[in-house]
Amino acid sequence: MSLSRLSTLLVVAIIVFNLQNTLGIDRDDLVIVFEDSFDSGPRLNGSIWNSDYPWGTFYNHRANMARRQVSISNNRVNLTAIAMRSTTITNIDTADYGLVDLDYTSGAIYMNSRISLTRGLVVIRMQAPPAKSTWPMIMLVPTDETLPILSMDIFEDRKNIGYSFQYTSPSGSRASVSGTARSLGDNSNDMHSYSIDWGYDKVTFFYDNITLRSFVQSTELTQITEMRLVLALGVGGRSPSIPSLNATDYPQTLLIDSVEMWSPKYDGRYTIINLKSNLSAEVQSGQMQDRILVVQNNYTGAAWQTWDIKYIGNSQYKIINVNSRKVLDVHAWQTDDNAKVVQYTFNLKENQIWHIMQHDDQTVSFVNVWSQKVASILNGSAQAGVQMVQRTFDNGLDQKWKVTRLN
Ligand SMILES: *[C@@H]1O[C@H](CO)[C@@H](O)[C@H](O)[C@H]1NC(C)=O
Ligand SMILES: *[C@@H]1O[C@H](CO)[C@@H](O)[C@H](O)[C@H]1NC(C)=O
Ligand SMILES: *[C@@H]1O[C@H](CO)[C@@H](O)[C@H](O)[C@H]1NC(C)=O
Ligand SMILES: *[C@@H]1O[C@H](CO)[C@@H](O)[C@H](O)[C@H]1NC(C)=O
Ligand SMILES: *[C@@H]1O[C@H](CO)[C@@H](O)[C@H](O)[C@H]1NC(C)=O
Ligand SMILES: *[C@@H]1O[C@H](CO)[C@@H](O)[C@H](O)[C@H]1NC(C)=O
Ligand SMILES: *[C@@H]1O[C@H](CO)[C@@H](O)[C@H](O)[C@H]1NC(C)=O
Repeated sequence: MSLSRLSTLLVVAIIVFNLQNTLGIDRDDLVIVFEDSFDSGPRLNGSIWNSDYPWGTFYNHRANMARRQVSISNNRVNLTAIAMRSTTITNIDTADYGLVDLDYTSGAIYMNSRISLTRGLVVIRMQAPPAKSTWPMIMLVPTDETLPILSMDIFEDRKNIGYSFQYTSPSGSRASVSGTARSLGDNSNDMHSYSIDWGYDKVTFFYDNITLRSFVQSTELTQITEMRLVLALGVGGRSPSIPSLNATDYPQTLLIDSVEMWSPKYDGRYTIINLKSNLSAEVQSGQMQDRILVVQNNYTGAAWQTWDIKYIGNSQYKIINVNSRKVLDVHAWQTDDNAKVVQYTFNLKENQIWHIMQHDDQTVSFVNVWSQKVASILNGSAQAGVQMVQRTFDNGLDQKWKVTRLN
């Protein structure tokens, strides 16, 4: 990727973050479920972390992994690679890079199956070792250790940041979407954060909170069940014959400062009740077609008054009517106050994706990503049958909703 292409990406990403900041939304759509800053002593917590890989001690590069190469110093996990053989196994056939000799020894850690993530965000803060031949890797793998795999890595010069989502194609073979970004600085000079976020529709990779790339993969993401985190320091990397691989460069250390895991706040079936009227959002009379109004009405438990709220990815949700399977949608991409909210077939358009803004009283507002306005009731009415519209957020009680999980 050229520098000019990267700076375009950075500008786009910065605009997105500013929009979110003006609304005060920054990971507000997620809840932290796991955090380790490695500051509670000289050992990894054995009820969370194991050493090596979930599937053994080697993978697709030249190091065999050994527990003794993992330590904690100064509240950081230290994975150190050395130019020393620790196994009699040689010439493993890596699917990606051909035959490699396991003539180095390094460290990897992974999380127990009890701590896994089905959808959400993982943030790793780490500092790469300086040698170009080292290959720091972040991977999310299924508990059964097959595809799909989400990963980020640093390779060759310390500015290449790789990212990929590998999955099984319809024909049963391995397929992927992936890319490489170039950072401006050398990632062995200091700590940086590397993040992977995924939901039902999008997988997004971040570097220092800036979006590197977001892929729409709605079909492939259904392959993800529970993912476990693996952090490893590979050797020889994506270029097993990299000319700079020189034993005199070793030992080399990857330092991991912290790990965070965030889950979507909403993922399931819910009722959505207006705070002002105490009436339920419903698709008018349970009709099935596109463009039918959403109104408020007495809650009866009808399927057209219940909603599946699902995490699209990248801090966005879709709100699906259980009866029609259509989603809340700002009609005709309007941006004006009082534009109506209807149901429409989901096709991942911005006028049908939402942030969920949480208030202190546990109610929420649904912020449309396209218009930045919130789901409200026309004129703030408390009468049954009045329609849902969008309006600039003004703290109105009709703009706040009680969302209660049903299953
Ligand atoms: C290790 O992790 C477990 C599970 O999260 C936690 O209950 C325990 O307090 C941790 N132990 C230490 C020493 O931090
Ligand atoms: C990491 O561990 C290695 C091997 O134990 C040690 O030589 C090195 O000084 C450690 N690095 C840091 C920054 O703590
Ligand atoms: C990324 O965002 C988090 C949470 O807002 C913040 O704590 C952290 O400092 C940010 N990191 C960078 C590199 O901007
Ligand atoms: C490895 O590094 C050492 C020390 O920098 C140097 O003398 C030697 O020529 C290097 N070997 C190769 C094969 O590059
Ligand atoms: C809604 O419920 C209220 C209070 O229970 C009742 O007075 C009203 O008639 C109901 N409206 C409809 C349309 O069923
Ligand atoms: C809201 O409506 C429900 C019935 O749908 C009723 O049980 C509840 O008492 C009402 N709450 C208020 C504050 O009116
Ligand atoms: C909403 O208010 C406007 C005037 O502000 C009025 O014309 C309209 O009839 C009202 N609609 C409802 C449903 O109350």
